[in-house]
Amino acid sequence: MTTSPTLVRARIAEGLRRLHLSSLEERLDALLSDAARREMTFLDFLDTLLTEELSSKQRKRVTMGISIAHFPAIKTLEEFDFKFQPSIDQKLVRELATGRFIANAENVVLFGPPGVGKTHLAIALGRAAVEAGHSVLFESATALLAALARAEADGKLDEKLRFYVKPKLLVLDELGYLPFERRSAHLFFQLVARRYERASTLITTNQVVTQWGAVFGDEVLAAAILDRLLHHSHTLVIQGESFRLKQKRKAGLVNTVPPRAG
Ligand SMILES: Nc1ncnc2c1ncn2[C@@H]1O[C@H](COP(=O)(O)OP(=O)(O)O)[C@@H](O)[C@H]1O
Ligand SMILES: [Mg+2]
Repeated sequence: MTTSPTLVRARIAEGLRRLHLSSLEERLDALLSDAARREMTFLDFLDTLLTEELSSKQRKRVTMGISIAHFPAIKTLEEFDFKFQPSIDQKLVRELATGRFIANAENVVLFGPPGVGKTHLAIALGRAAVEAGHSVLFESATALLAALARAEADGKLDEKLRFYVKPKLLVLDELGYLPFERRSAHLFFQLVARRYERASTLITTNQVVTQWGAVFGDEVLAAAILDRLLHHSHTLVIQGESFRLKQKRKAGLVNTVPPRAG
């Protein structure tokens, strides 16, 4: 005597639940009738099931990774107009988007004046890193410094440093817009030293390297920080016009091309 299809169906649903194959559990009936309609071979049916569950798990992982990363906006490489910013090495950006630099614990520094797309690229590369399976955290340099200083005052510096050392890619946005307090510069050095050759850091900054002494309020410390950051690193220097100004000019709010800085 054969087992009733209803019983088998219930047993399969229970098995899928216990194995945490939730997408298959939800879609079981649709997948079964699709397989019957298309007269699938056993091989093709099994292949369909696995592909379906793997892509569902990947989608969930990416959604979770993006929420953990705390990106301030949704920006992608597809939305980035490389024609507007010809100084950008597009090939390097595409290479960075594969996430290989993270496997090698290399750093990335994006230099450029305001409005040229540094934050946009930083978010887009962070997203690509999540898709490639890496843990990512996005933080503004100012917020990071404030968090470290607060943690130190509360006697919890080590805990906070561990939090910021953990992600495989730490994106630090807008370093140099505000100069650091002396103490903050030391805390930042500790973070950079701990991440050095262990995990990747991507920094966006409006300051050329020669100005970092002024940013950190100390030439020796700035040199020690730069030494570690730049040792295994990729640098992108963006020269060009602000995308924000271009949009304003289009709208007739600004008339002339602003003089280029530097
Ligand atoms: N080349 C570009 N293509 C598309 N959007 C851009 C480009 N450059 C900048 N933007 C947009 O212009 C705005 C300012 O860019 P942002 O990345 O914040 O500049 P930055 O961080 O260099 O000051 C953002 O909304 C960004 O998405
Ligand atoms: Mg920015």
